[in-house]
Amino acid sequence: MSMPEKIAHEQAPERGGCAHEKAFAKLNLSLDVLGKRPDGYHDLRMVMQSAALYDDVTVELTNGAFSAETNRSYIPGDEKNLAVKAALCFFSETGLPGGAHITLHKRIPVCAGLGGGSSDAAAVLRALNRLTRTELPVAALEEMAAKIGSDVPFCVRGGTVLAEGRGERLTPLPPLPDCSIVICMPGFTASTPELFARMDEKTLRCRPDTDGLIKALGEGSFTGVARRMYNMFEDVLDRRAAMLVAQIKGLLLDHGAAGALMSGTGSSVYGLFADASAAERARDAAAPLCRELFLVQSLPMRNILNV
Ligand code: C5P
Repeated sequence: MSMPEKIAHEQAPERGGCAHEKAFAKLNLSLDVLGKRPDGYHDLRMVMQSAALYDDVTVELTNGAFSAETNRSYIPGDEKNLAVKAALCFFSETGLPGGAHITLHKRIPVCAGLGGGSSDAAAVLRALNRLTRTELPVAALEEMAAKIGSDVPFCVRGGTVLAEGRGERLTPLPPLPDCSIVICMPGFTASTPELFARMDEKTLRCRPDTDGLIKALGEGSFTGVARRMYNMFEDVLDRRAAMLVAQIKGLLLDHGAAGALMSGTGSSVYGLFADASAAERARDAAAPLCRELFLVQSLPMRNILNV
C-alpha cells in the first residue's frame, strides 16, 4: 500500500509562527463546460497549467483573529477575501485554536481568469498545514480547498492537471513541455456567473478535443498541445470583448505563438512560445492592447509529494 502523499517542505523552514508561500497563476489549456448540475454549478472538463507568475503570501499565526492586508487597496481584508476564507476553513476543519494574519503581495491580476485569489487561498492552506505542523495529506488539503472555491483544489499542487466535476476531481498529467508564456490582461473584467448563464442559454457546437490534448501531453508534443487549446467561454463573450480577445490572440500567433487562448472566464489571453526571443517580441507588440503584461515560464508540478 502506498503511503499518503505529504507536501514536501521545499521552502525555507519557518521562524516564529510565520510562513511564506508562492501562489502561482493558473492557465486553462482547454476548458469544456459539459452542462448544468442540480446544485447550480456546472460540470467542467479542463486541462489546467501553472505559470511562473506568482503572488507572495505570508501567513502569521494569531490568537484567534483572521485578517489580510494586500498591496491592492480594492482587495478586501476580511472573509470576502478567499485567503481569509481559507484560513477560517483550515481552523474550523482541524478544530485547532488560533487564527491567522495574511499578507498578500499581489502580482497576478485580479478577476482575470488566472486564479489569483484561488491560488492565494491554496497557498494559505499549505502554509497553515506547515506552520501548525498538522501535516494533513495533500488529498485532505484539496478536499478542504473545494469548500473555498472551484479552482482552489488545483492550486494546492498546480502543474499540469485534468480537472473535472466542479473543478475538484484532479488527475495529474504529463507536464507541458518547457515554454515561454506571454500573458496579456486587456483590462475588461467578465462576470463568471454571467458567462456560465450565457453558456446555459446557447447551444455551442464546438468543444475542445481534451482527450487529444492529453494524448499530445503524453507524447511530449508541444505543437500537438498548442493546436488543441480551446476555451468555450470565448464563444459566449460579448462582441467587443470577443473582438479584443481575437485581436490579441491574432497578434500573439503572428509573432510566433504555437497557440493562444483566453484563460478561464477571462479576460486574460496568453500565448505559448517555444522560442523565448519570439515571446519577447510578442510581449512588446501586445503592450498597446493590454493593461498588464507578463512574460514567464511554464511551471511543472511544484510541492511535489513524497510518496
Ligand atoms: O466555486 P466558485 O465560487 O469559484 O464559483 C464562482 C461561480 O462560478 C459560481 O457561483 C457559479 O456561478 C460558477 N461556477 C459554475 N460551475 C463551476 C464553477 C463555477 O457554475 N464548476
